[in-house]
Amino acid sequence: MDFTTFVKPSNGGASNNENETEPAKKLQFWKHVEYIENHGKQEDDFEYCMTEFLRMSGIYWGVTALDIMGQLDRLDRKSIIEFVKRCQCPTSGGFSPCEGHDPHMLYTLSAVQILCTYDALNEIDCDAVVRYVVGLQQPDGSFFGDKWGEVDTRFSFCAVATMTLLQRLEQSVDVEKAVKFVMSCCNQTDGGFGSKPGAESHAGLTYCCVGLLSLTQRLHLLDVDKLGWWLCERQLPSGGLNGRPEKLPDVCYSWWVLSSLTIMGRLHWISSEKLQQFILSCQDLETGGFSDRTGNMPDIFHTLFGIGGLSLLGHPDLKLINPTLCMPQYIIDRLGIKPQRLTLA
Ligand code: FPP
Ligand code: ZN
Repeated sequence: MDFTTFVKPSNGGASNNENETEPAKKLQFWKHVEYIENHGKQEDDFEYCMTEFLRMSGIYWGVTALDIMGQLDRLDRKSIIEFVKRCQCPTSGGFSPCEGHDPHMLYTLSAVQILCTYDALNEIDCDAVVRYVVGLQQPDGSFFGDKWGEVDTRFSFCAVATMTLLQRLEQSVDVEKAVKFVMSCCNQTDGGFGSKPGAESHAGLTYCCVGLLSLTQRLHLLDVDKLGWWLCERQLPSGGLNGRPEKLPDVCYSWWVLSSLTIMGRLHWISSEKLQQFILSCQDLETGGFSDRTGNMPDIFHTLFGIGGLSLLGHPDLKLINPTLCMPQYIIDRLGIKPQRLTLA
């Protein structure tokens, strides 16, 4: 794989391509650092205001991407931890995306991920988080996303990942039932997983289910060959990956598909070279950041998954990312957590 050196800001922020009209072929490292660093400062920006409902996850995406780039100290640790603390609901124990919103499983995982990265779990009431997550498990093993009762395998993953990061998995939720529910969402035809029993296989939800099986050491339940084939069929002639048959490629699926294949020891079943080129072609050469596909507007979500995908592909300028928890591997090592991985086949 031919990864070349990133561009430093000393070139005035200009592209390092010989031909400016060509999509980028090299990682615009410092442009992305600038993009992520500025993201949290644009409080008056229209897009920033409109994404208030997912602010906690936005911070997790930015913190994680910068840490993978070795630039975490560019963000203000203290104010981020203060923000996270203000978002813990005093009654339920769950976290909301920002002050004034309701708590939800999705933002509870993001909050715990941020605090783990900053080694600051002692700053919050962890017992209350455990009570919140346990209280959302249903008799069939599934999880509600919040008090309104939507069920989805995303919430199963968030619950199990949160409990794992808090080192409370075995003593809290019913792991056996959680696994049983997730396996009931596996489709026999392609080996993939959907949001609930009988729902169409989807690569994002497959990541959630494979991730849950990795956290619970149950990867032997997978039909690795069948699922591996379905996942590698997601690669299109452009090199990009889609989430379901007949869909367009999207940089975030570089994460959902690649992380699943990595956990299953089947990363080499797709063309890494072509995927790397697709991801790099989705960089915004002017502002930094990655978009879902070539030429579109960048956002912080696709920026994490572009960087994360390149890290899984072994980019030399990026730290290792853990494919199960989508966090820097050194944080997972520091916590002593060992999500299951299958060996190469
Ligand atoms: C696609 O969403 C992605 C998913 C359904 C998976 C989302 C996973 C989580 C929320 C779990 C936490 C994730 C991490 C990385 C820790 P989409 O709405 O873009 O789907 P579409 O492409 O079908 O529109
Ligand atoms: Zn996407």
